[in-house]
Amino acid sequence: MSVREVLHMGDARLLQRADELRKFDTPELHTMLADMRDTMHALNGVGLAAPQIGVGLRVVIFEVAGNPRYPEAEAVPQTVLINPVLTPLSDAMEEGWEGCLSVPGMRGLVPRYKHLRYQGRDEFGAIIDRTVSGFHARVVQHECDHLDGILYPMRIRDLKDFGFNEALFPGEEVRDE
Ligand code: NI
Repeated sequence: MSVREVLHMGDARLLQRADELRKFDTPELHTMLADMRDTMHALNGVGLAAPQIGVGLRVVIFEVAGNPRYPEAEAVPQTVLINPVLTPLSDAMEEGWEGCLSVPGMRGLVPRYKHLRYQGRDEFGAIIDRTVSGFHARVVQHECDHLDGILYPMRIRDLKDFGFNEALFPGEEVRDE
């Protein structure tokens, strides 16, 4: 297990569509997931997509532990989501601040679907099928966008709502996701 380099915005690999994973429960997959977890934890992120470490496969992880420093961020279970399919459950959208380990030190206000069903597989090939809303839905949409080569700044409606953490939120500790 090791902390991998996270690609930063501007790297062409972040703009490619990732491929479906075909074989589950392989040593290579488990090693990659261990590296992704180590990397996400080392950088204090809430999610990471395989393309961010230069692997063009449709694999994401995310996890939000209940943290009193981020009371607005509800807990999201530690999840490995592979070959995901996202289905918005209504047209309702909401704006929220996002960061990204590939865009360090910055935040942007991004519209996302409020209510979402997501389906896919875990690392063993077991089916995942969840209906979520709010912050959980936002995290899933952000991470799965990486699989289609989309970074959150591409979804900001007004670039006035994009900037550096310390300028947008002076005095607050803000983490990347
Ligand atoms: Ni990201």
